Amino acid sequence: MLVLGFQGSPRKKGNTSFLLTNFMQALEKLGAQTRIIEVARKNIIPCKEYVVCEKKGYCPIDDDVKTEIYPLIRQAEVVVLATPIFFFNMTAQLKAVIDRCQLFWARKYKLKLTDPAKKTKRGFLLSVGASKGKSLFEGLQLTAQYFFDAIDARFEGSLTYRDIESPKDMAKHPNVLADIEKAAAALIGPLQGRKKILFACRENACRSQMAGAFAQHLAGDKIEVSCAGSEPAKEINPDMVKVMQEKGIDMAFRRTQSLNEAIAESEPDIIVTMGCGEECPFVPGAEMQDWDLPDPASKSIEFMRNVRDEIEKRVKGLIRELK
Ligand SMILES: Cc1cc2nc3c(=O)[nH]c(=O)nc-3n(C[C@H](O)[C@H](O)[C@H](O)COP(=O)(O)O)c2cc1C
Repeated sequence: MLVLGFQGSPRKKGNTSFLLTNFMQALEKLGAQTRIIEVARKNIIPCKEYVVCEKKGYCPIDDDVKTEIYPLIRQAEVVVLATPIFFFNMTAQLKAVIDRCQLFWARKYKLKLTDPAKKTKRGFLLSVGASKGKSLFEGLQLTAQYFFDAIDARFEGSLTYRDIESPKDMAKHPNVLADIEKAAAALIGPLQGRKKILFACRENACRSQMAGAFAQHLAGDKIEVSCAGSEPAKEINPDMVKVMQEKGIDMAFRRTQSLNEAIAESEPDIIVTMGCGEECPFVPGAEMQDWDLPDPASKSIEFMRNVRDEIEKRVKGLIRELK
């Protein structure tokens, strides 16, 4: 389970950084993998309103949002926004990331596509501000709410602190660590102890990607899904993306990975193999299933569709078996 955190303050060791670092450590103790993006130290170009995303579903701007942040948002099961209040909202650096996520809004509402992880994905907000005003976090809450909706994440809650100004103020707060522990447990508690399934094929570009996406889409947060290949391709297969799109499932920004990477991240309870050959993984104690499915790479799009439909059928059967 990957938790992605955006650290929105330009201060390296300020209040937001303290909050997010401790929040992520609490999540790690509960078994999550975490990754923090320091937005002020990334190459992030604000949205230029080219509107390409609304017409074609991609962004022509080349920067860290495109190469790193879009794929991580798609990979993460939990996304945490952390920011100080700057003029009643988030910092400009973090807002630039949010605005570039108009792309996800467009893929969802214009292209009518669904992130396969939608039923699992959660969002959480952390913030601090110097003043004590009642409405201090209202603007931020609204922006966060619409961001989480655009990335198909359920907005689970927030921890916000008033009267926090100097860089060390947050660390001196008497309840903050207890608050963090409680909020972290509530956020990922329901995702702990899920059955872990690894789908394995050769290139991790077609079959295992489709199986993984169908499993997430159909089983929701009942299982933890990963997929990998014995000889991972550089990128996922564009025809596979097209045929999944016909089903309303959005495969954009998915990455390929090796079997070793997948197993090192999280040891599966069940491994479903489909053509990884001699290299099919062995994990002591894991239940094995072999699905004899042909490789649709370099075949017709109709062939890809048939493999997709067969995979969907088998994933439904697998989910029924698990109940
Ligand atoms: C440009 C700027 C704008 C700010 N605007 C607000 C504001 O509208 N309301 C508020 O309570 N604090 C405001 N603050 C104060 C910060 O939110 C506060 O100092 C916070 O603790 C900084 O967190 P950090 O250490 O994570 O950067 C502002 C600070 C800056 C630099």
